[in-house]
Amino acid sequence: MDFKDYITVVSDFPKEGIRFKDITTLMENGEAYKKAVDEMADFAKEKDIDVVVGPEARGFVVGCPIAYSLGIGFVPVRKAGKLPREVLEVDYGLEYGKDSLNIHKDAIKPGQKVLITDDLLATGGTIEATIKMVEELGGVVAGIVFMIELTYLDGRDKLKNYDVFSLVTY
Ligand code: PRP
Repeated sequence: MDFKDYITVVSDFPKEGIRFKDITTLMENGEAYKKAVDEMADFAKEKDIDVVVGPEARGFVVGCPIAYSLGIGFVPVRKAGKLPREVLEVDYGLEYGKDSLNIHKDAIKPGQKVLITDDLLATGGTIEATIKMVEELGGVVAGIVFMIELTYLDGRDKLKNYDVFSLVTY
């Protein structure tokens, strides 16, 4: 299956010059969404992963069904002010903007093998911040999986020391 057939490229969203990759059209198709999740979960199957971590909001769309498929838990990374208990906070830069990310401090146990997931690798800022948080809590990043990678933004340069899989590249 060519997953690109189900992803819609939208010009000039959310800003002029950006060609936004809209995964909602893939998610709307049950067969395409399931196949996409299955392929991403396959990448993680032999890695003995303890927990999946993903940043909001689209990281949940990818990470939660993978966690369910692997029969393990999911830990959300959220934008500032959303998590109710004690958090670790990291600032990060986006393809178009800046923000900070939070994770519950007790969500990862030292030595746990973590699969990080997101819908999109652009500049890599979001995933770099997520890795930093997981490692600061003592987790071991055993793999990173994206639905989409924008190779022309060179986000992979930030992930050289990790095992990375992307389902679709542009
Ligand atoms: C988007 C996307 C990735 C990130 C990729 O999230 O879902 O998480 O940007 O960009 P980067 O590699 O340059 O960091 P966004 O912050 O727009 O949040 P959303 O999923 O809540 O829409």
